[in-house]
Amino acid sequence: MSTDDFKKNKRVTSYGDENFSNFLRGAFLSAAGYDRQDLSRPIVGIADLRSDFNPCHRGVPEIIEHVKRGVLESGGLPMVFPTMSLGETLLSPTSMLFRNLLAMETEELIRAQPMDSVVLIGGCDKTVPAQMMAAAVSEIPVILEVTGPMITNSWKGERLGACTDCRRMWSKYRAGELTKSEIESVEGSLATTSGTCMVMGTASTMASMAEALGLMLPGGATPPSPTGNRLRHATATGRRAVELAKNPILAKDILTTKAFHNAIKVLAAIGGSTNAIVHLLAIAGRAKADVNLKTFDDIASKIPLLLNLKPSGQKYMEDFDQAGGVPVLMKELESVLDLDHVGVAGTPLREILSKVEPAGSWQDVITTLDEPLGASGALAVLYGSLAPKGAVIKTSAASKELMQHTGPAIVFESAAEASLKLDDPNFDVTADHVLVLRNSGPIAAGMPEAGSLPIPKKLALQGVKDMVRVSDARMSGTSYGTVVLHCSPESAAGGPLALVRDGDLIQLDVANRTINLLVSEEELSKREKELKPIQKAERGWFRLYQEHVTQAHLGADMDFL
Ligand code: FES
Repeated sequence: MSTDDFKKNKRVTSYGDENFSNFLRGAFLSAAGYDRQDLSRPIVGIADLRSDFNPCHRGVPEIIEHVKRGVLESGGLPMVFPTMSLGETLLSPTSMLFRNLLAMETEELIRAQPMDSVVLIGGCDKTVPAQMMAAAVSEIPVILEVTGPMITNSWKGERLGACTDCRRMWSKYRAGELTKSEIESVEGSLATTSGTCMVMGTASTMASMAEALGLMLPGGATPPSPTGNRLRHATATGRRAVELAKNPILAKDILTTKAFHNAIKVLAAIGGSTNAIVHLLAIAGRAKADVNLKTFDDIASKIPLLLNLKPSGQKYMEDFDQAGGVPVLMKELESVLDLDHVGVAGTPLREILSKVEPAGSWQDVITTLDEPLGASGALAVLYGSLAPKGAVIKTSAASKELMQHTGPAIVFESAAEASLKLDDPNFDVTADHVLVLRNSGPIAAGMPEAGSLPIPKKLALQGVKDMVRVSDARMSGTSYGTVVLHCSPESAAGGPLALVRDGDLIQLDVANRTINLLVSEEELSKREKELKPIQKAERGWFRLYQEHVTQAHLGADMDFL
């Protein structure tokens, strides 16, 4: 490719005179130190999501250096550009509010800047979904690399990891089993290296989904952030990005309906985060794949849990990596996967898996379809009068004895109100109650991870560990409990959750996939007339988001995307 080709083939800034635009581009690239030889190479964009406000991405600079090395080794020209970085624990009110904004930004920067292929380096919960949403509509090849998980630490001899153990230790503190100074000491022991949460939370789940969908080179989801394995994978990704620039495979051709079916099978087998459902629906929506909320139940109900990772099991991502990671897990699922699928690696899944050893008996992280770790249906989709368009529950992290439960509702209008009341020692609540949180869906609040309401302090002190909770919110992939999420339509869109009153009976029946509000139609239509619309934001992104976000069962993407 010549410099002239570079000028001809890549979108130019519009000044009304294309030749002048090219001349100006050359002049300014000279200022950055690029000469004609540089510009004759395939250009690989590298999205840089480092931020001091995103500790999970602390390892990004080193990963970028290795991607660049791979690109240079293969004769390409790496060009790094920033996009916004979404740090799960440092964004208010919730990082989910900004997922679509990052997806739009990434999509537009790939489209607007002159590159032949692009490496997207994500990690923390919303970054990888946003990048896959952008990839789905990209006209150039996209390949993902992730920061990789953190490595575990220990406290007083007990192995700890973010953030299932964050929640477990906090629950112990609330129950009076840990002192204030002990919980402060735990705070410094939960997340001690670069990388993403090292349980099967949302970040690990979405990295696994990127690999299962074929948007990442095999073996990329699990190597921990601080290891050489991670850096070697980054270098290989850089090399592959150059090959993709020369012989493009586009994400829109990778993201077929069958690819999503493969990914959903992996999702069920790993006991992945419920958040993956809303993210995969958004990606599938953009890729125009035939996937809806019911697809998840149809597939998950046939695939058992094969992975012994928290919160559904006991181990951590570094154990999964040492046991062979996603390729070995997919090897165990080989008989139920579409093996003709081709991802960014450029070879059919059949060929990739033919080189993978099955999970050996030497390890206790990945089990087999013949001897699974848990029953099928780790994720279930519920319908009923409380969620006409659907709701989800992670059964692998729920209590068996609560899967069929009828109890009186206690309703909270917001997470802030819940937090206040749940800490009150005089709060009138029993373990039979069903805690209902509304105004936490996409339109009302950007869909925060508020659905896993804490057990009321009074009951926690009595040893109660779980209760049925229902909301239009999400919950962290690191959470556990009998928690019904993503009720759709949300209360702010006039969903039935808005009509629940204290004392109404709510019936959960996971076996029959139902969640019902046991109140007469007549009474509900009376209450409906008294509903008042929510107050929307006056201006800015949140206002635009509220005007255009779709409901959870459609992926909470913007309706114009
Ligand atoms: Fe970033 Fe968990 S907070 S991955």
